[in-house]
Amino acid sequence: MSSNPLQDGLRLEPTPGPTALVIFGASGDLTRRKLLPALYKLSRGQRLPARFSVIGVSRDPMGDEGFRTVLRESLREFAAVKGVPGEDAVAKSLAERMHYVGGDFNDPSLFQRLSAALAEVNSDGGALFYLAIPPGAYANVIEQLGAAGLSKAASPEQWRRVIVEKPFGTDLDTARELNQIVHRHFDEAQVFRIDHYLGKETVQNLLVFRFANGMFEPIWNRRYIDHVQITAGETVGVEQRARYYEGAGALRDMVQNHLMQLLALVAMEPPIAFTADGVRDRKMDALLSIQPLVDEASRTTQVVRAQYAAGWVAGAEVPGYREEPGVNPASTTETFVALRMQLDSWRWAGVPFYLRTGKRLPKRTTEIAIQLRRPPLEIFKRVSPTSVAPNLLIINVQPDEGISVRFEAKLPGTRMQLAPVMMNFRYGTAFGGSVPEAYETLLLDAMLGDPTLFARHDFVEASWALITPVHEAWHNEQAAAIPTYEAGEWAPADADAMMARDGRRWRTL
Ligand code: BG6
Repeated sequence: MSSNPLQDGLRLEPTPGPTALVIFGASGDLTRRKLLPALYKLSRGQRLPARFSVIGVSRDPMGDEGFRTVLRESLREFAAVKGVPGEDAVAKSLAERMHYVGGDFNDPSLFQRLSAALAEVNSDGGALFYLAIPPGAYANVIEQLGAAGLSKAASPEQWRRVIVEKPFGTDLDTARELNQIVHRHFDEAQVFRIDHYLGKETVQNLLVFRFANGMFEPIWNRRYIDHVQITAGETVGVEQRARYYEGAGALRDMVQNHLMQLLALVAMEPPIAFTADGVRDRKMDALLSIQPLVDEASRTTQVVRAQYAAGWVAGAEVPGYREEPGVNPASTTETFVALRMQLDSWRWAGVPFYLRTGKRLPKRTTEIAIQLRRPPLEIFKRVSPTSVAPNLLIINVQPDEGISVRFEAKLPGTRMQLAPVMMNFRYGTAFGGSVPEAYETLLLDAMLGDPTLFARHDFVEASWALITPVHEAWHNEQAAAIPTYEAGEWAPADADAMMARDGRRWRTL
């Protein structure tokens, strides 16, 4: 028997039935960086169905062999496994199961050929359609799938499901519209909206941490918690994604999806059972308790935004956002945001949740810090010169996955002196081995038909309902300038001021 409990758990998990994965955007960035490496790793771990095939679809006239070359290149560049990825037996066997159908997404005959290809590779199994394409093409492909009769299951084994990548809409109206189009052809149970943060091991562990332990839940409320800080810091800049990012900005790119999911998992009530809708219903409640981010009367918002200027990150000089390739030199797109959220619920009334995220910050780190209230009396004040630091519970989402607790201890010595200490749990040391990538977990769950870790239609809309008025308020301000921060520096002054107004400070990371 293995002594690694992480591996034991994996072995007990079910394997999906016969499946054909249809990837729209067969040679795109997401397919190369994430999907093909994830399939390879699932295959290595023997987690793919015995009867499994991939059908790539895109405009390129590459043919089966071209698609298999994409696999080999992708594994060499992105699979990060020992050996010679792209050439080993697992890769070869995966390549043999890969097929390609090329054509224009506007052309109905493409979908007829896809239908024929599906019948050939997997006539009696399920089909999972993955939209790894620019968001502007989602609606068209969904309509075409529907028109070609590809969205309806002919039997329970011949299920049909669709995975929709982010961004799901760009505001409340477009998200609603997209949901309507999707629902015209697919039932909600067939729809898997990706938020890759939900596939991260540490994010899933939030549920276990809260609801499989007796010691944390009793203090998980306004009586014991002072406030919550959620940070997602990145060192990378906009890279080659200006075309998308210019119209998105940090609020759409990170907050509307990833940070809202983290917040909901921290704030939700315990579900009745660990079922997809059990969990997602309670997350929805949490989301609905968040108070508007825009003042109704003045139509103004306290959400802080800023853009990185030139600076230094990890010893390298980097350009400012406006100097990046493809960015408008007068762009006012935000690359940093900081928000204060108030949840009007029995559990959280009066406990602010602070969120911040940005690119070109000094450190790549995502964490949730839960700061507890101070003890009611400082009885050591007379003997210890230092004041007592409040207890902290830190959930390190990445890169140093783990959980830490900060508490006060007596400094060894003849005097009574206090100092804060950390108690750490680290995934690496506790379990060894490596944890699966988010896309491995999510692809497998979609093949198994388990939507627990996917965004439901109402969550996506409720999240946009909070965010869209902020964009409207910013639009009304018509600010020609946006505050800047130096690349490689933490938050701009406005974000600090937001905390200072509440008598608090951002954690130094
Ligand atoms: C993506 C955003 O959804 O998440 C990117 O579009 C961002 O801009 C990325 O860099 C962050 O993901 P991770 O897993 O690296 O934290």
